[in-house]
Amino acid sequence: MRVILFLNQAFLLLLLLPSTEMKRPGKGRGLKRARSDRFVVPTCSELSESGENFVDCQDQYLTSIPASNTWSKVPKHLLLARNRIKVLHDGAFSGYESLISLDLQQNQISLVKEQAFEDLTQLTTLLLQHNRLTTLSEEALIFIPNLRYLRLHGNPWKCLCPMESLIRTLQVPSNRNFGNHARCAEPISLKNKKLKNINPDLLCEESPGDPHGNMTDPIEPSPIRSKSDATTLCHTYFFPKVQMDCSNRGLTQVPSGIPEDVVQVNLSHNSIRHLKPRDFQGVRSLRVLNLSNNNMEHIDTAGLLHLHELDLSNNKLRFVQYGVLEDLYFLSQLKLGGNPWLCDYNIHYMVYWLRLHPGVKHSGLLCHSPLEHAGERVEKYVHSYNRECPKDRQLSGPDQDQMDPELWGKPLEALGEVEEELEPSPLRVPQKYQIIRLS
Ligand SMILES: *[C@@H]1O[C@H](CO)[C@@H](O)[C@H](O)[C@H]1NC(C)=O
Ligand SMILES: *[C@@H]1O[C@H](CO)[C@@H](O)[C@H](O)[C@H]1NC(C)=O
Ligand SMILES: *[C@@H]1O[C@H](CO)[C@@H](O)[C@H](O)[C@H]1NC(C)=O
Repeated sequence: MRVILFLNQAFLLLLLLPSTEMKRPGKGRGLKRARSDRFVVPTCSELSESGENFVDCQDQYLTSIPASNTWSKVPKHLLLARNRIKVLHDGAFSGYESLISLDLQQNQISLVKEQAFEDLTQLTTLLLQHNRLTTLSEEALIFIPNLRYLRLHGNPWKCLCPMESLIRTLQVPSNRNFGNHARCAEPISLKNKKLKNINPDLLCEESPGDPHGNMTDPIEPSPIRSKSDATTLCHTYFFPKVQMDCSNRGLTQVPSGIPEDVVQVNLSHNSIRHLKPRDFQGVRSLRVLNLSNNNMEHIDTAGLLHLHELDLSNNKLRFVQYGVLEDLYFLSQLKLGGNPWLCDYNIHYMVYWLRLHPGVKHSGLLCHSPLEHAGERVEKYVHSYNRECPKDRQLSGPDQDQMDPELWGKPLEALGEVEEELEPSPLRVPQKYQIIRLS
């Protein structure tokens, strides 16, 4: 009897031993793990921006989270976008206590364990968009008490009972930046509905038609589905500053929903024809706007009060309408190359504005037509144009020659060259010239 019992215990021990042995290296907190990760992530960069440490491991084919002691300093921002991470294991971020932002977008994450975010008590921003998540437990978020921004869109959410608590959390009014654009992929009855808007009471109800959310048509969510919403369409980078990359999206107009805190927007390589006054309404922090390589024919910069850089190169601009530049109080860089600037009367406003704003560095303002001026600097064209008229030279002093409306209106009329419909009327008014801010 005793012997058998003893043998039994020994056997149990033997069974238990190897499993505990094997668990140890898998815990991921030891040096071993860190060392091996160092080989996996040779090209991550550690940088410091305004006193905060960043670790940038984007696009590195990573399949797991590098251990925190891989880095010389524990980072505040960990950028892991566009890797190949599939699962966030329990304790995946242990040692990363001081993280403020965590960017995991565009991985292949399909599973987040309930304790994956343990230790992330300082985290305010968690980006999980464009992964393969079908479900996420609200429990996982309990470890992140300071979370303020949670991005979940671009995941094929199964809006079924396990999602009920998360969906309720997203719908708490104070969580207004949680999962705003995330949509259900399943079940069919809720397909494309926003998680924010569905009724959580219905999720755990047994419905005869759809007992287990059995899908006949699971869809691959496409990020371009809601066609002109910037948050789903464009790639947003949050650090070091809020930037949106909307380049190469086949856009024909500026998308809606550009967040108010965005600092830089890249809309290059699209087919946008007009910049409209309301396109960037309320976007007060915008500093850099890249509209290069579009089909821009008209621009109205109203509302872009704080813009520092504007890239309009490689568009179809022939002139800018009188007054449209007046809102650009703080502009310092203006790129104008690669446009078919038409050197006639309408271009004078642009040159005039640039002269009045010597702080604006501009480039590429060359006449494209008419042929006689092709390739000439537009300023030179305007200058020589003004000099051709002796009468106006007499009338105005050297500093005045751009201020006097007579100069802009009369000579062409006298020469009979001007096409009436092209002439901006304010310049012909024979009154004291002044800048009128159009708003
Ligand atoms: C869905 O239901 C059908 C029968 O209605 C069944 O044949 C199929 O296996 C189910 N699929 C899943 C994923 O449960
Ligand atoms: C657009 O801007 C973003 C950053 O704002 C940059 O990462 C991206 O490469 C730019 N795209 C092009 C086509 O230049
Ligand atoms: C705008 O984007 C183009 C490429 O799409 C790039 O070459 C250019 O430098 C960008 N302009 C600014 C001001 O960043």
